[in-house]
Amino acid sequence: KQGRAYDCWLAYRPLENAVADQYRTICKKVAVAGQSAIMESAVDELKRGLKGILGVEPEVLYAKSDTRALFIGSESGVELTADDMHALGDEGFILKTCKDAILIAGKTDRGVLYGTFAFLRCLQVGIKPEDLSRMENPAAGIRMINHWDNLDGSIERGYAGNSIFFRDNQFIADKSRVRDYARLLSSVGINGISINNVNVHARETRLITRELLPEVAELAGIFRNYGISVYLSVNYSSPIELGGLSTADPLDKAVQDWWCKKAAEIYEYIPDLGGFLVKADSEFRPGPFTYGRTHDQGANMLAKALEPFGGIVIWRCFVYNCRQDWRDTKTDRANAAYDHFMPLDGKFMDNVVLQIKNGPMDFQVREPVSPLFGGLTKTNQILELQITQEYTGQQKHVCFLIPQWKEVLDFETWSNGPGSTVKKLVCGKVYPQKHCGFAAVSNIGDNANWTGHVLAQANLYGYGRLTWNPDLSSEAIAEEWIRLTFSNDPEIIGTISDILLKSWLTYEKYTSPLGIGWMINPNHHYGPNVDGYEYSPWGTYHRADWRAIGVDRTVARGTGFAGRYHKPNADMYEDMDKCPEELLLFFHRVAYRHRLKSGKTLIQHIYDTHFEGVEEVEQFREKWLSLEGKIDRERFESVLERLDIQLKDAREWRDVVNSYFYRKSGIPDEKGRTIY
Ligand code: GCU
Repeated sequence: KQGRAYDCWLAYRPLENAVADQYRTICKKVAVAGQSAIMESAVDELKRGLKGILGVEPEVLYAKSDTRALFIGSESGVELTADDMHALGDEGFILKTCKDAILIAGKTDRGVLYGTFAFLRCLQVGIKPEDLSRMENPAAGIRMINHWDNLDGSIERGYAGNSIFFRDNQFIADKSRVRDYARLLSSVGINGISINNVNVHARETRLITRELLPEVAELAGIFRNYGISVYLSVNYSSPIELGGLSTADPLDKAVQDWWCKKAAEIYEYIPDLGGFLVKADSEFRPGPFTYGRTHDQGANMLAKALEPFGGIVIWRCFVYNCRQDWRDTKTDRANAAYDHFMPLDGKFMDNVVLQIKNGPMDFQVREPVSPLFGGLTKTNQILELQITQEYTGQQKHVCFLIPQWKEVLDFETWSNGPGSTVKKLVCGKVYPQKHCGFAAVSNIGDNANWTGHVLAQANLYGYGRLTWNPDLSSEAIAEEWIRLTFSNDPEIIGTISDILLKSWLTYEKYTSPLGIGWMINPNHHYGPNVDGYEYSPWGTYHRADWRAIGVDRTVARGTGFAGRYHKPNADMYEDMDKCPEELLLFFHRVAYRHRLKSGKTLIQHIYDTHFEGVEEVEQFREKWLSLEGKIDRERFESVLERLDIQLKDAREWRDVVNSYFYRKSGIPDEKGRTIY
């Protein structure tokens, strides 16, 4: 049932070189200091890895000890110093080598587990024992995955099959796949997972009842062994739907009591539950607005209930009016999250964390960074990214998202002078925060290769690696992933990284130009449809007419969104000449005949990029074909199949978008190519 693609980056392929021999002499014995379920996971993984990579089945010895470490080789010679202990954080690890011994150590068993995975990575890519030594701590405490899985087994915005947790309104009995998923996640440092959709429907509302809690607890047990805490998405109206109350008003005493009792009940089953994830007052979900209350009141009420148990409330900022009138050019969805949450800065309890999508709209191929980053200075916050490719090709198209996320992470907000980048903000390095970090919507399902597109595994991998260390480069992540997943062969690395590293910009080229976004089929969000959302209530418009396109979001003439940023960003976005060109149509309304910095007119830029995008996909396909016979057939064929779909659909995108703008503007392509 499991093909080559199933193991992802934990394939543990034989390494055949001098380095392997060096390790083979060292790795015959493993001494384990400290015992726990997580330490067992580390030992298991080590055995798996050593067997796969070196063909060694080590002898494992246990010593009673308070230390948390795996010693590989002879125990003598490597030990932790006081300096090491001082430098180590709670989840960090140290790898150290001496002549014939390797030490994998942490302050906690989680640290040892992360160190073990790091060691196996080093081994697989062929790093010599003498170059192994390193000390690493994760960048932030919350490194989380969100599942949008429903109990019926479907996944909202899932493109890789059905849920691995649920089927037919039941939990899936066979948990082997969940365990393998936990291994994949913890191998890249993920330590939290919300298992159900943020849109909590009737059946999922019951996850916090005695009927389903034992099953949640079983899942939590599997994840716990890999250092991962489970969270639940909850329905804000639970007191009504489960408790029979007539209201869910956060200031109502009966509602407060109901949640306190409910929390106590939940923690009976899962004493280390991470907490709740809440989508409130958004896209038809209930929330405090129904009762004329604010979001701090709503979140704090839940936070009080979870506080005695150490749980946190992760409250999403994806709040906007999804029933707006398209004729209304004053209301701007981009302003919504900022305008809702900025006035509440500092009003949330310590165990509330705001989860903020990277951009002000919704995971488009290109958006500016949400101005809440750098705006909020007194509130715990985490960055929300979308690994599942809802708007970036739905795992039919290759779209390596790490370069996009790197731009977000490196964005300078100027909130507290220079150095106030998003990554520093969400790692609590600019303003002190009790809880901070990352969340992202998962891209996996029960497909044999997890992600539908084999190359989409790189996005899950890269997300985890960035949450651990947001300073890693896209290039480094791509190379590491390819080495672990496919091979250390330079030709394979070169070819696949080349495809990955270009793929986001290529996708952008043949879909939506210069930050305008959308222009897709409503609901399922795939395929070109320029006016798909233009006359809809969803707040996502391009406003194209015969002369110009784009949304004026300036303070001077438009919706004022540009002014939500700190200077000098606000000035940069306000001024059409200073605005980064890739975001030009997000911030400005621009005539088709306007000349861009390249000297091309806007309309010519649209035509050219759409032709180029398709040509680049053709090149991806050629490049991939050059790998025939060099990687296994199964993965070769499956990626090729996807590239064929991508090419066909990229052509459709190109022709529909170009024809639309040609017909609107009446301006022909300077190069005389076929436009319909
Ligand atoms: C997008 C997506 C929805 C999802 C929502 C959210 O709008 O299309 O399916 O529920 O984001 O993040 O809550």
